[in-house]
Amino acid sequence: MAHDIEIRGLTKSFGSHAVLHGIDLRFGEGEFIGLMGPNGAGKSTLIKILAGVYGGYAGELRIGGAQVSSLAARSDVGFIHQDLGLVDDLSIVDNLRMGEAPLRRFGALLDHRAEARAAAQALELVGLDRPVETLVSALSPGEKTLVAVGRLLARGARVLVVDEATSTLSSGDAQRLIGSLKRTVDAGATVIMVSHKLSEILAVCDRIVVILDGRLVEDRPIGGLDRDGLVRLLVARDAEAHALEEREAIEPGEPLLELDGVCGGRVGPVSLTVRAGEVVGLTGLAGSGLHDVALLANGSIRPADGRVRRGGDGRTALVPPYRERQGGFDDQSIVENLAISALPRWRSAVRLLRGAAERTDAEAMVRRLAVSPRDPDRAYGDLSGGNKQKVVFGRALLRAPGLYVLCEPTRGVDVQTRREIYRLIFELRRSGAGVLMVTSDFEDLAAVADRMAVVDDGRIGAFISADDLANTDLEAFV
Ligand SMILES: Nc1ncnc2c1ncn2[C@@H]1O[C@H](COP(=O)(O)OP(=O)(O)OP(=O)(O)O)[C@@H](O)[C@H]1O
Ligand SMILES: [Mg+2]
Repeated sequence: MAHDIEIRGLTKSFGSHAVLHGIDLRFGEGEFIGLMGPNGAGKSTLIKILAGVYGGYAGELRIGGAQVSSLAARSDVGFIHQDLGLVDDLSIVDNLRMGEAPLRRFGALLDHRAEARAAAQALELVGLDRPVETLVSALSPGEKTLVAVGRLLARGARVLVVDEATSTLSSGDAQRLIGSLKRTVDAGATVIMVSHKLSEILAVCDRIVVILDGRLVEDRPIGGLDRDGLVRLLVARDAEAHALEEREAIEPGEPLLELDGVCGGRVGPVSLTVRAGEVVGLTGLAGSGLHDVALLANGSIRPADGRVRRGGDGRTALVPPYRERQGGFDDQSIVENLAISALPRWRSAVRLLRGAAERTDAEAMVRRLAVSPRDPDRAYGDLSGGNKQKVVFGRALLRAPGLYVLCEPTRGVDVQTRREIYRLIFELRRSGAGVLMVTSDFEDLAAVADRMAVVDDGRIGAFISADDLANTDLEAFV
């Protein structure tokens, strides 16, 4: 049919590094396809070739039977990358108009009304109830994504390709986005969605495609597949080794962090204690001030009021909330990025010795987190999204402080790595470290937090224990 996409023998290398090896795929109308596979498997590379970001590939692309070099110029195909390409300082209607202007030749007044109407229609398509004059900067991350989807639909997109758009969204926002994608599929469009979140894939997709090391290893209807079945598909080789660990009972020790009536950033007053051997979880919506609590705990924001007391060695390590802006140094190697904040650990009079120790530790971390590619001298900037996350997480571990402040620790990582990260957090807990985990991912909370609370409007709500979580609908709280 007119919008059917066909990929034949798609092969791509970056220098000597082969990333895709002869991928064959067809996507038809009315399909909701989940594109999955481990970090570094080649999913984003495949999508960027379709989008015309990367050329220099072997193989063929067709749409509606016609051969094309990419789908970039097609208004019937739209891409949602993590960078949505919206301008924060402009209104929704202005963002929707961007790039459209030459098509319209109305008088000024009429033009404005027609555009406002068109914009309202675009918002209706995605179920976003906001005045079209709203500045994009006033929207939540999920609402921004809905605007980006609405813009594509308004321009006639019949195929939407969505690369991990939900990984930075709160659970509610993610559900709204997925719901609106599902409605477009029900209306006959095609959606190809990359996500590492099993529940999302199981909720909406009718077909699953798995890529492993640049090869297609699975392409099947999702019918009949439950969560365990999906995990088995994704971690076929050693599912047992990656089973979830049980939480050990540990009596918490001395307080490693005490916030007492602290105000700062967008939050306050907040009080909170994290003890040795304890994982404290916080969650909340975008704009709740959730991440500011983490930055206060880490000392990155100076409190305007209240007291912060630190126990133990007083040192903290932070996994920052926004990897894109605060993550790593693109031009530096994996080793350098891992070692960057841990330098005192390798302090040695002999530079050469220090370099060697640093390397050994960094290499061990690369193996432990299965950073791919394994070559620790590769540039951080060339890593896939999930592998960057692994390096940022590994860097905090190598700092080996008493207190860890982990923001969105599992963002964008594959099923296997997620479990490895949970295991590492349990290890930290067992070794007597304290962990403050700030996450919009309920699975993180359920898996490792000893107690947890919701941050709302700059305040921390009542804590519930892990035991009570089973009987509580946390999603209803948030
Ligand atoms: N511009 C680039 N230069 C060199 N290598 C790259 C480049 N972009 C990606 N790669 C490599 O290609 C491989 C596939 O990366 P890709 O981003 O497609 O993975 P992915 O499946 O999207 O992973 P994730 O789930 O972590 O997002 C990785 O080994 C990555 O390091
Ligand atoms: Mg990717």
